[in-house]
Amino acid sequence: MKRVFSGMQPTGDLHLGNYIGALKRFIPLQEEAECFFCVVDLHALTVPRDPEELRSKTLELAGLYLAAGLDPERSALFVQSHNPAHSEGAWLLQCITRMGELGRMTQFKDKGKGSDSATAGLFSYPVLMAADILLYQADLVPVGEDQKQHLELTRDLADRFNRIYGEVFKIPEPQIGETGARIMALDNPEKKMSKSADSSLNSIQLLDDPDLILKKFKRAVTDSENRIRYDRENKPGISNLLDIHSVMTGESVDSLVERYRDKGYGHLKIDTAEAVIQELKPLQERFRDVMESGEVQRVLARGAERAREVAGETLSRMQQAMGLVSK
Ligand code: TYM
Repeated sequence: MKRVFSGMQPTGDLHLGNYIGALKRFIPLQEEAECFFCVVDLHALTVPRDPEELRSKTLELAGLYLAAGLDPERSALFVQSHNPAHSEGAWLLQCITRMGELGRMTQFKDKGKGSDSATAGLFSYPVLMAADILLYQADLVPVGEDQKQHLELTRDLADRFNRIYGEVFKIPEPQIGETGARIMALDNPEKKMSKSADSSLNSIQLLDDPDLILKKFKRAVTDSENRIRYDRENKPGISNLLDIHSVMTGESVDSLVERYRDKGYGHLKIDTAEAVIQELKPLQERFRDVMESGEVQRVLARGAERAREVAGETLSRMQQAMGLVSK
């Protein structure tokens, strides 16, 4: 059976990009693979956080995984810091990572902006991500397009480790969706939808109520051509709406373009909003039930146990291969 690993940061609120690019795609994988899904709280610490908020967002994200359909009987759901193998494994991998390759990571360049005050944690962030994945000997890593470069580094590090110290790691494959791997901001379709955006019109949050979702779609930035066609470069706003609509309803982009050919942008915006509202309604209801049931902590405890078992084995092999004396 194949192994799947993926993670999401418990920062800000989860948005439609996280849902389409990642969370929604995790659920069917449970049918065919042994899955490990993680709330990567250590990654969240790479920029300053309010401790109370981090704690509540960590539990909230676990609740959202469950509300979206993660089945704790089949998959392990856990918090990264509950498995110390991640930090230890990351240290060992840092010792074969080059400063140059971390300096080329575009997310670091975007977030750190070349500033001297960017933290060392932010710089070495992709190594912790590599440890997350490699410790589970994952075959597949479902992510959005923005994580592609981090996955390439993960594969390079696995290959380098295997060459220096002998075969320990499986080389993982990224799994990036064909549609919706890069959902753009509603208020600026040239940029990806992002948790760290200043404006609330940037993103649809998974817990937004229907009125707010409709309002945000109505205000979505488009273009002045007034013709519905798919062209990500010249019509990023309309193409983004078509992508979202397509993923929400399962109707292909081509068929949508055909159907909306003679209609105005307003129609497409309202119908896309409606499709999103319908998709998120059951998730929002389940989220409320899950958070009230008190089951989150139990699921996380069980998930961490399984995660420690699997990752602990790989960590021992790394330690041995590198010449650390066994305990
Ligand atoms: P994070 O928390 O920023 O995002 C979680 C997932 O959502 C995807 N995503 C998007 N997909 C489509 N359109 C968007 N606008 C969009 N924005 C975000 C991301 O690609 C991601 O799949 N470094 C990771 C977390 C991580 C991880 C891992 C992922 C840590 N360790 C190991 C996989 C495996 C991150 O910050 O994702």
